[in-house]
Amino acid sequence: MDQAARLRSLMNAKEHRARVIAVTSGKGGVGKTNLSVNLAIAMARLGRKVVLVDVDIGLANADVLFDVNPRFHLGHVLSGEVDSLEALVATHSGVLLLPGATGTVPFSDLKESERSFLIESFRRLEDFADYLIIDTGAGISRNVIQFAGAADEIIVVTTPEPTAITDGYAMIKTICREKGLGKIRLVVNLAADRIEAGRVAERIRMVSRRFLGIEVENLGHILADDRVRSAVKRRKPFFLESPRGPASTCIRQICDRILSENVQRPQRGFFQRFAEALLERKF
Ligand SMILES: Nc1ncnc2c1ncn2[C@@H]1O[C@H](COP(=O)(O)OP(=O)(O)OP(=O)(O)O)[C@@H](O)[C@H]1O
Ligand SMILES: [Mg+2]
Repeated sequence: MDQAARLRSLMNAKEHRARVIAVTSGKGGVGKTNLSVNLAIAMARLGRKVVLVDVDIGLANADVLFDVNPRFHLGHVLSGEVDSLEALVATHSGVLLLPGATGTVPFSDLKESERSFLIESFRRLEDFADYLIIDTGAGISRNVIQFAGAADEIIVVTTPEPTAITDGYAMIKTICREKGLGKIRLVVNLAADRIEAGRVAERIRMVSRRFLGIEVENLGHILADDRVRSAVKRRKPFFLESPRGPASTCIRQICDRILSENVQRPQRGFFQRFAEALLERKF
């Protein structure tokens, strides 16, 4: 390798890399998108450069919550029409959004050329942002597992409903079986109070410890709050609509917890791991 090439490779291996957080759940409709959007805003308000990637290929709705009409979405990035940075939408909250596409093909079904373009394009996001929050779809699909599996950390959202708890645990089990890296954390949404949230989290933590041998961390909870529903109806994030409301206060606590951590990240970046997973067909 000549000196110029060595220098280039050193520059490519630069220190700055986004912390990648995948938000997922076993059951649908438990509040993933609301958590992703409002947490992203809370972080952006504290001066972090946050990109929210909506990879929910079923009902892409982060753009609805932000009330933006994007020109491009993930589908355009997948098809190679635009780069991921060009597809970003600046929302009024300071968060940059890569909108989701409905009916996109699974990433593992992409042609080789499409895949390498996608990975290269996503890597630029990773270099650019401080935090990448990935709003995945619900349930155990290949796409969700691939994204969750490559993330630095995974937030599994559940509610106190028994079906959400069971499906949440099933999700944790699948992620833990498929991957070695990254930590799994829990957020209990739609909680009546702190006690109920704590009880739900403890139950999941206990079964995960006993049957999977892993420590699932309780990241926090979000109280059931009518302001969330009414904000959604008005296509406004509740953190902006009622910043002092109960749900916003909970988001602030989760945000503070995440930002106050000093995380040791693996050597390889998220998209490198994602690419490896795709190439090895590990998932
Ligand atoms: N803390 C809360 N308090 C009251 N209502 C809530 C709360 N969180 C979510 N909701 C309600 O639940 C609905 C679904 O939330 P959201 O769209 O965030 O779920 P999701 O997990 O992203 O769904 P999907 O699986 O379809 O992507 C919201 O539109 C809102 O009405
Ligand atoms: Mg959603």
